[in-house]
Amino acid sequence: MKRAAPCKVNLALDILGRREDGYHDMRMVMQTVSLCDMVSLEEAESGFLLESDFVPAGKVTLEQQAAEAFFAEIGRPMPGLRVRLDKRTPAYAGLGGGSADVAALLRILRERYAPDLPEKILERIGFSVGSDMPFCVRGGTALAEGRGEVLTDLPPLPDCFLVLCKPDFGIPTGSLFARVDGGELRCRPDIDGMQKALTEGDLDGVAARLGNVFEQVLPPEYGEVFAIRKRLRELGALNAAMSGSGPTVFGLFREEETAGVAAEALGRQYAQTYLARPLTRTDVWRN
Ligand code: C5P
Repeated sequence: MKRAAPCKVNLALDILGRREDGYHDMRMVMQTVSLCDMVSLEEAESGFLLESDFVPAGKVTLEQQAAEAFFAEIGRPMPGLRVRLDKRTPAYAGLGGGSADVAALLRILRERYAPDLPEKILERIGFSVGSDMPFCVRGGTALAEGRGEVLTDLPPLPDCFLVLCKPDFGIPTGSLFARVDGGELRCRPDIDGMQKALTEGDLDGVAARLGNVFEQVLPPEYGEVFAIRKRLRELGALNAAMSGSGPTVFGLFREEETAGVAAEALGRQYAQTYLARPLTRTDVWRN
């Protein structure tokens, strides 16, 4: 079985504060996009084999942890499994690509071994391996609160095009959270206004409210993020913002042609530039 593992962007990302457990309470509007890896699953003689160019050495992978938790939940011994990842998305990008792969594997396992398992339980299994997993399992457009596991479906993003552009460096997530803890955030995205704009199908209203508080604490050496954001706006994006803990910046475009021209222009400078579309929850579960 082979299925798509689509990435996400954060249309809005706010951090409400640090929690007792060291994590942070978040308020985010998440959106699945068509940029994806492919995940395939076959039964094997025994064990858990993950084939990918990106497997971290000497660790039990998140894929294996999630698969073990899945079989424990459904009360069956785990068969031998061979999982293959065809990576097409950038890693350490703020696009949840790693979580998307694990989420796709969980959806495949459910489809194959426990089609009646409630999706909520699949999200909970995901949450045992990462904070953004519940959304990656569910997909579509959603408000994510708590650590990321309290999800409320939102109306789909009106039809549009996204250009995603990742500069050639990574930003360690933990260090950005630490910078938020150490300072005051100057302004916060208008998430209630964005929800209203989504309800009204108002793409301009959504675009006007894109915002990510991590941008406020980016160290100066990551200034290229702002250069890309500016470029996307100059190239015709309704608006642009960094996704997650970066460094990928995405722009929202109304017209496919404008988005295509922008992707081509940025692609000349940044190899990791992609044109994508928003996906609904139904798209994510249908593939
Ligand atoms: O849950 P996950 O392992 O994906 O989180 C990665 C890191 O991001 C955590 O170790 C934590 O430092 C930070 N994080 C956080 N609050 C969240 C989600 C992630 O502080 N809600």
